[in-house]
Amino acid sequence: MKVKKAIIPAAGLGTRVLPMTKASPKEMLPIVDKPAIQYIVEEAVAAGIEDVLIITNRGKGIIEDHFDFAPELEARLEAGGKTAELEEVRRIARLCNVTFIRQKETKGLGHAVSCARSFVGNEPFAVLYGDDVIIGEDPACAQLCRAYEKYGKGVVGIREVTPEQIKKYSSMKVEPLQDGCFAVTDMVEKPQTPEETFSLYSILGRCVLTPDIFDILEHTAPGAGGEIQLTDAMKEMAQTAGMIGVAFTGNRYDMGNKLGILQATCEVALSRPDLGPDFAAYLKELVRTL
Ligand code: UTP
Repeated sequence: MKVKKAIIPAAGLGTRVLPMTKASPKEMLPIVDKPAIQYIVEEAVAAGIEDVLIITNRGKGIIEDHFDFAPELEARLEAGGKTAELEEVRRIARLCNVTFIRQKETKGLGHAVSCARSFVGNEPFAVLYGDDVIIGEDPACAQLCRAYEKYGKGVVGIREVTPEQIKKYSSMKVEPLQDGCFAVTDMVEKPQTPEETFSLYSILGRCVLTPDIFDILEHTAPGAGGEIQLTDAMKEMAQTAGMIGVAFTGNRYDMGNKLGILQATCEVALSRPDLGPDFAAYLKELVRTL
């Protein structure tokens, strides 16, 4: 079965990016001139996703505005003959069918996903974390969808991280299969000791799940940080049905922390034909002063 639906949880409080996130969503942080969440929706569309549900909460209304038409702005661009800008502004509103739902209480990523139950219905669906931007030739979401179509099991996007990072992320029990795929039979959220740590493979920002996850989430107790963790629900799925890990390719930027935001800005700016050469010249000058 093809994966046609995706959800983007974007209802977190973003406490690691304060004070920026006091009144503005971190998902709207720009990488050069595009908000992070637009890169994510574009990745989903490039992977063949047709319906996207963005999970928001209070104060995140500008995400809705970004994916809507902007009649006043469009009229001004049209009158001024700014055709390229006009096309770009309209293209964003037409990317795909984007809908929104609110997570009324910030009870964790697992709880945010459970808010998507009626949107998902009885189909497999992709989850793209709203603060994880992945840029590459082959969209990360497409890599996971292909693994789902091949193995028919829930899929997690994984990558090796450092022993320091694993304490803040999740750790997967993996057995290699083929083509960058692994069998995942167990996992743990935020392991604090080497004994608790299965491997340095961690889930980073993407998964494809079957609707079975919703029944599991109903009885998933609050875990790390007192939040209902998606990893805890996926752990049960991995232990009972087994899951697939995909060591995805692409540059990943964690827009949930300040260093990740700076890395994204620098690397994407350098890769842009219109800005890259000037920005590189500026950086070379700057580096000499360090
Ligand atoms: P994070 O844990 O990285 O986001 O969740 P956060 O809670 O905003 O971060 P900090 O620690 O306070 O800085 C990963 C994704 O899940 C969403 C976030 O918006 C982010 O995109 N999320 C998290 C929800 O949608 N709801 C929640 O209750 C928690």
